[in-house]
Amino acid sequence: MYPQERMRRLRTTPRVRSMLREGSLRPEQLVQPLFVDENIADRREVATLPGQYALPLGKVGEECVRLERLGVGAVLLFGIPRRKDPLGSEAWNHEGVVQRAVREAKAACGIPVMTDLCLCEYTDHGHCGKLRDDQVDNDATLELYGRIAVSQAAAGADMVAPSGMMDGQVAAIRSALDREGFQGTGIMAYSAKFASCFYGPFRDMVGSCPSHGDRRSHQMDPANARQAARELRMDAEEGADMLMVKPAMPYLDVICRARQDHDLPICAYQVSGEYAMLRCAAALGALEMKAAMMESLCCIQRAGADLIITYFAAEAAEALGGERPV
Ligand code: PBG
Repeated sequence: MYPQERMRRLRTTPRVRSMLREGSLRPEQLVQPLFVDENIADRREVATLPGQYALPLGKVGEECVRLERLGVGAVLLFGIPRRKDPLGSEAWNHEGVVQRAVREAKAACGIPVMTDLCLCEYTDHGHCGKLRDDQVDNDATLELYGRIAVSQAAAGADMVAPSGMMDGQVAAIRSALDREGFQGTGIMAYSAKFASCFYGPFRDMVGSCPSHGDRRSHQMDPANARQAARELRMDAEEGADMLMVKPAMPYLDVICRARQDHDLPICAYQVSGEYAMLRCAAALGALEMKAAMMESLCCIQRAGADLIITYFAAEAAEALGGERPV
C-alpha cells in the first residue's frame, strides 16, 4: 500500500519504461489490405479513405515488394471486377481480378497472400450471396463460396478469408479445398464480424453497398458478445486456422475473450471507418497521426490480437523500422 508501494518507480526514465513495456509490435504482425480494380489504369483514391488506393492490375507486384521490404506480415487482397451479375460469378473466374492479382503478387515476391472471400464486391445487388426472395440463401451460397476458395487457392493464395458470415462457411470451404487438393491452403475466418457502420469507407472504395436492405440478417448485432463467442467456437470446430474479430477498437472485449477461449491465432481487423476516424481527426489537428496510429495498434494487440489487419500496416511498419528503444 501507499506510501510504501509507489507505481511511479516503474516509470522513472525512458529506459526503465522501455524495459517494462509488456507488449511490442512487430511489422510482421500487421496485414495490409489491398484493393485491386479491374476498371482502372492508374491508382485511384476515395475521399473517405484518404491515403489508400485501389490499384490496377500490373501495379500489385511492385506494391507487394514495397510492403515486403517494410517487413509487413501479409497482404489481404480485395478485387473489384469489371463485370457484376446476380450470382457474382466473376468471383470464381480463374482469370478474375483477384486471381490475377494473386498470381502477380506471388510472381513478384514472397509476402504471404490472403484473399477476402465474399460475393458482395461481385454481385450487382451488393449482397454477400445468392438471393432468394430478396434474402441471402445461406446453403446455396456455401456452394459458391467453395468455388471461390478453390479458384483463389489455385491462383496461389496462402489463406482464404471468408467474410460473408454464412452459417457453415468454414466447413464448406475446408471440404471444397480438400476435395480439390488444396489441403495446404489456410482459412482465416472472419468469425465475429459485426454489422458495423465502420465499414462505410470500404464500401465507397469497392462499391459494395447493398442496393436494398442491409447485412443484419448475417452480420452480428454490435451488442452481442456471448453470440460472438459462439461464432468463434463454431469456426474453430469447423476447421478455421485463424479466428478474426472485426471491427477491432470498438470490440476489444470480444478480442480479449477470443484470446482467453482459444489457442488458435487471433486476428483483429481495424476497419476502414476506424482508419478514417483517426486520419480525419489528425487532418484537423485534433490528434497526432503517428501517436494515434501506434496507440490504437498497441491497444488492439494488448487486448489479445496476434495479427492486425490495418490500413496503417505500411505506415506503422515504417515507423517501427525507424524506432529504436531510447
Ligand atoms: C466483405 C467485407 C467488408 C469488409 C471486409 N470484407 C464489408 C462489409 O461486410 O460490408 C469491411 C472492411 C473495412 O471496412 O475495412 N467483403
